[in-house]
Amino acid sequence: METNPSWTLRSYPSAMPTVENWVLEDRPIPTPAPGELLVKTLWLSVDPYMRGRISPAKNYASGFKLGDLMYGGGVGEVVRSESSDFKPGDVVMSDYFGWQPFSVIPSQSAKRITNSDAPVQASLSYLGMPGLTAYFSLLRTGAAKQGETVLISAASGAVGQIAGQIARIKGCDPVAVAGSDEKLAWCQELGYRAGINHRTSKDLVADVAAACPNGIDVFLDNTAGPIHDAAMLNLNVFGRVAIVGTIALADRFDQPDVGLRHLRKTLITRARIEGFLLDDFAADYASALADLLSWYKQGLLQTREDVAVGIESVPHAFVRMLKGENFGKQLIKL
Ligand SMILES: NC(=O)c1ccc[n+]([C@@H]2O[C@H](COP(=O)([O-])OP(=O)(O)OC[C@H]3O[C@@H](n4cnc5c(N)ncnc54)[C@H](OP(=O)(O)O)[C@@H]3O)[C@@H](O)[C@H]2O)c1
Repeated sequence: METNPSWTLRSYPSAMPTVENWVLEDRPIPTPAPGELLVKTLWLSVDPYMRGRISPAKNYASGFKLGDLMYGGGVGEVVRSESSDFKPGDVVMSDYFGWQPFSVIPSQSAKRITNSDAPVQASLSYLGMPGLTAYFSLLRTGAAKQGETVLISAASGAVGQIAGQIARIKGCDPVAVAGSDEKLAWCQELGYRAGINHRTSKDLVADVAAACPNGIDVFLDNTAGPIHDAAMLNLNVFGRVAIVGTIALADRFDQPDVGLRHLRKTLITRARIEGFLLDDFAADYASALADLLSWYKQGLLQTREDVAVGIESVPHAFVRMLKGENFGKQLIKL
């Protein structure tokens, strides 16, 4: 008989999460109710937003309670369908895949993967949430225009690697901030003009200034922390800052975000600093995905995955991604 080892939340992390915050429980294979699908997991995605969901602090999405089954983005094959919209054998993507080999998901959350031009797991990266985040944060919130300097943090990651290439496609001048020279070398292959290693830099403000001699017009802030301060101090008049993520706070999630205040700089530059949440752009996903797929098919988007294997590896993969040890979109293959 097949078992269904499932990761549940054991404790809330007070600092950087560790694997001990979860426990692997043997659970029965669940039975779908009307409107639900039983799916066999092929791929799972671990994403930084999950850090907020394992905290009791207030967030834009409701969090997990202790003992809850963990869930998130995944791709799998329908084994049993209690919905007339899906049949066994369909391959679907949903944001409700349990961290387990067999999951029950609401059929309304499932999207059938029919596109054969890219691997199925692309719907968890460049043809899914990270790709869409790059697209809308750069082109809508950042309103990046041809010729402008765009600084992107976590530049080699799932969002950053796509954002840098879209910036290049749109004729902008993309500059990377990443955590290793190896990551920066790959960013350059993608079309980033210059890069700053934020882990070895002795003076981030000066290094950002040197890499962006004309100042920064658009800053995609994927991290918060000292990189945010260095970017703000190099921002141009009428600069735009998209606050996309705060992964630098992963080890102090429930504490105040202490750094410089930029009110005078904001006044002088008349900069626009705007929080970004992908869900707000849902009405336009289809046309954005068409652009992303078209660029991918034309060979304009290179992509990189970092793949862990097996259900046992899920929390390990999540924690290493939070620590910056991933190189490319962190996925788990089952
Ligand atoms: N608001 C939204 O709707 C939305 C949607 C999707 C993603 N996001 C955000 O976008 C950001 C990137 O997500 P992703 O999925 O593409 O992750 P990712 O970049 O693939 O992985 C996370 C990366 O963050 C960097 N990092 C970790 N700790 C850091 C620190 N202390 N300082 C600076 N950088 C650090 C590491 O890269 P380095 O080695 O280069 O430092 C790490 O590889 C996250 O903040 C996420 O929350 C937001």
